[in-house]
Amino acid sequence: MQNIKFYNGNTMPQLGLGVFRVENDDTAKDAVKHAIVNGYRSIDAALVYGNEEMVGLGIQEGMAEAGIQREDLFITSKLWLDQYGKDNVIKGYQTSIDNLGLDYLDLYLIHWPGTDEALTIDTWKGMEALYEAGKVKNIGVSNFNIEHLEALKNQTSIKPVINQVEFHPYFTQESLRNYLATTDIHMESWSPLMNAEILTDETINAIAEEVGKSAAQVVIRWNIEHGVVTIPKSVTPHRIEENINVFDFSLTEEQVARIDALNQNKRIGPNPLEFNG
Ligand SMILES: NC(=O)c1ccc[n+]([C@@H]2O[C@H](COP(=O)([O-])OP(=O)(O)OC[C@H]3O[C@@H](n4cnc5c(N)ncnc54)[C@H](OP(=O)(O)O)[C@@H]3O)[C@@H](O)[C@H]2O)c1
Repeated sequence: MQNIKFYNGNTMPQLGLGVFRVENDDTAKDAVKHAIVNGYRSIDAALVYGNEEMVGLGIQEGMAEAGIQREDLFITSKLWLDQYGKDNVIKGYQTSIDNLGLDYLDLYLIHWPGTDEALTIDTWKGMEALYEAGKVKNIGVSNFNIEHLEALKNQTSIKPVINQVEFHPYFTQESLRNYLATTDIHMESWSPLMNAEILTDETINAIAEEVGKSAAQVVIRWNIEHGVVTIPKSVTPHRIEENINVFDFSLTEEQVARIDALNQNKRIGPNPLEFNG
């Protein structure tokens, strides 16, 4: 598995498994376990997905079957909007690690910026306290745009290591991507497959023919070529295997450019400037 390196020296696998909209039952447990047994080392969880318990069991069973240790994995979870505010962060964090059955997270994210800047800043100060106390390995944000990141920069002291945002060939976030590159904050893509919608795109399928891979593998590889961390979700065993099988080929600059040109600034999720839970 290919890793990216944060400005603080820590690393993160460039590909992981997403678990949004997965039932808190054997579906979650089996998907996570299957992923770990098949080489995934990163899982993207969140309190609000309501499935941390079964994701946690999948982690335990996956580690046992793959013969690996906790430190071989990179586990992310996210603080939901109803627990914002400096003093609430530790409670949100504790709930997630208890749900997951873990002692620590590798990455804890503020799930959305929210619409109250003062509250967002106060919440980030809680994230900083968690990090400074050594309870979490890395802290980051999700769904932050440039203005949100500038507000953090101007009013807080620890820079996020990563920003997890909507990113797929119809929503390529070029200005945010450039901003993150210049500030040494990594970008992570959610809904990289546009919730499967992108898989019928003609250009993607033409490139898939050219390289002898599936449409999903082409889109995931396009993330890798851009240096973006990605977390495609699947609960289907053969797709979980397919989605990690992207490190034995590459796309040419021309193929990357053809995919970049598909951009329509088309979101499938909420606009972070308006979303408050
Ligand atoms: N921070 C945030 O606000 C935020 C928001 C949204 C998502 N996320 C994270 O990002 C992860 C990924 O996003 P997402 O779940 O919205 O969507 P996604 O990964 O873009 O797409 C998932 C969909 O694609 C299907 N799929 C997966 N691999 C496939 C393949 N190889 N061939 C055909 N279909 C395939 C899945 O079906 P099956 O499962 O049925 O196989 C599922 O329906 C989430 O799970 C979550 O961890 C974060």
